[in-house]
Amino acid sequence: MPNYYALIPAAGYGARMGNQLPKQYLTLAGHPMIYHATRTFCESPQIKHVFIVLSPQDPEWKKYDWDVFSDKLSVFYCGGETRAESVFNGLNTAARHFAIESPDWILVHDAARPLLTQHQLSQLIDELADDAIGGLLAVPVADTLKRSGADTRVLQTESREHLWQAQTPQMFRYSMLLEALNNVPELSITDDASAIEAMGHHPRLVHNKSENFKITYPQDLALAELIMQQRNQQ
Ligand code: CTP
Ligand code: MG
Repeated sequence: MPNYYALIPAAGYGARMGNQLPKQYLTLAGHPMIYHATRTFCESPQIKHVFIVLSPQDPEWKKYDWDVFSDKLSVFYCGGETRAESVFNGLNTAARHFAIESPDWILVHDAARPLLTQHQLSQLIDELADDAIGGLLAVPVADTLKRSGADTRVLQTESREHLWQAQTPQMFRYSMLLEALNNVPELSITDDASAIEAMGHHPRLVHNKSENFKITYPQDLALAELIMQQRNQQ
């Protein structure tokens, strides 16, 4: 049976958040944001090991005590210029330290998605376990979509039929993901599925809730704080 590994790229700067501290370290429910996703994967019985990819210059990670996760967590200071590069470097580094096999599954998850639940994670794994390609959590687009010209006037309304917002985790076999990221023409892709698609494959979309949103702007952090508070009261 293949093993399941998690890889959390966390080597970004959070430019759109506009804070000096990279967003993955901003406080959310009393912990640095990255703690929450790390905990979800470390506590999942389906996940064998968790790899965190940090920027080579990251001064923040060591300021916290991660001992509670230590038997399941490895931290690599090998982040790159783009998310794709960080994931690619992380996959290579992980394989130097662990006996990862080609068909083993890698679940790549943004450090900036702290609201992923144990249930959502196991749903993704269970739905894709027998899939030839793999896939990702995603949400059908709910809003009406407008395409504009350069002048912010509507050119046309786009159909939202069959349109999904991609989330993470995105789950692919180790060797296929490594090959896809190695072949991708430009490293500006913003998710792992794009690299798999560029090879001509069609990743599966696993219907999820919008609550697993990515924290990009300050207002996202405020909303995540509220949701966490609500969950802690339940
Ligand atoms: N990431 C990474 N290496 C990079 C860029 C991004 O590991 N060179 C990670 C981020 O740390 C984050 C995830 O990829 O966990 C998703 O990226 P995004 O939300 O875009 O984060 P940032 O790139 O940090 O934010 P921004 O684009 O606003 O600068
Ligand atoms: Mg980014």
